[in-house]
Amino acid sequence: MALQKITTGKIIDKKKRGEKIITITAYDYSFAKIVDDCGFDLILVGDSLSMVSLGYNNTLSVNMDEMIHHTKAVSRGVSNALIVGDMPFLSYKVDKNDAVKNAGRFIQEGGAEAVKVEGGTEICPTIKAIIDADIQVMGHIGLTPQAVYKFGGFLVQGKTVEAAKKLIIDAKNLEKQGVFSIVLESIPWQIAKLITNSVDIPTIGIGAGSYCDGQIIVIYDMLGLSTDIKPKFLKYFGNIGDNIRSALKNYRDEVNQSLYPDKEHSYEFPTEELDLINEWFEKVDLDKETVNNKTRLT
Ligand code: KIV
Repeated sequence: MALQKITTGKIIDKKKRGEKIITITAYDYSFAKIVDDCGFDLILVGDSLSMVSLGYNNTLSVNMDEMIHHTKAVSRGVSNALIVGDMPFLSYKVDKNDAVKNAGRFIQEGGAEAVKVEGGTEICPTIKAIIDADIQVMGHIGLTPQAVYKFGGFLVQGKTVEAAKKLIIDAKNLEKQGVFSIVLESIPWQIAKLITNSVDIPTIGIGAGSYCDGQIIVIYDMLGLSTDIKPKFLKYFGNIGDNIRSALKNYRDEVNQSLYPDKEHSYEFPTEELDLINEWFEKVDLDKETVNNKTRLT
């Protein structure tokens, strides 16, 4: 039976029913299709693609055009999951009108159904403007990677009473602005639990413990494909990097030894015409049949 298309409303309903919300990132068609086949609720085209897909040191380098390019690819592979486009650095904090236009590009060009923005209470006017344009918004507080230089690194947030209070207030303000869910990244689980209990919209944790309403993880990280950084919360659910290495070595060795491609992986010429082509080949003078470098091809 075909699954039903997920909407932001259905994601909120899952919290009401006490059901976990299962989400992950994806950046291209093939991965998105596999994720969607597995019945995930939400796929985030995360700006983490800057690091895991494009090889930059942080998420600040990816731009709008690149995000749209990847969002388009993801949306071609997805039938059921809700697709959320991650608004990149400088695309929404400089100018509110630009924020609305850039959010709109994710929907109109990228095929996303919602956007995600990083930030707390200070970003509420921008969130309101985007929602006023009928675009659904996901919030993101805690370790917001676009502020990596402000934080002085990819550091756990909300570890003091003051910082924890701010996170709780931020979450409440984001809810009041109308976001449909909030990502809580790299904060103590006790604070994530308090936030989850204080809002009616779902919290989606990454490094925020088990009391969140759902979880998100970077797909290349959890598959063991991208192993440059290993935060405490990251668990490898697969070892695809090693699988790929072993497949590539097998291919290299089989080509070297002329084992691949074998007959099973080659196309056959029609048997009844094989004699004809072989006879022709034995007799033909290929130099006469072909152009030489003085002949102009018209
Ligand atoms: O860019 C990303 O992948 C994210 C998730 C980690 C939430 O923002």
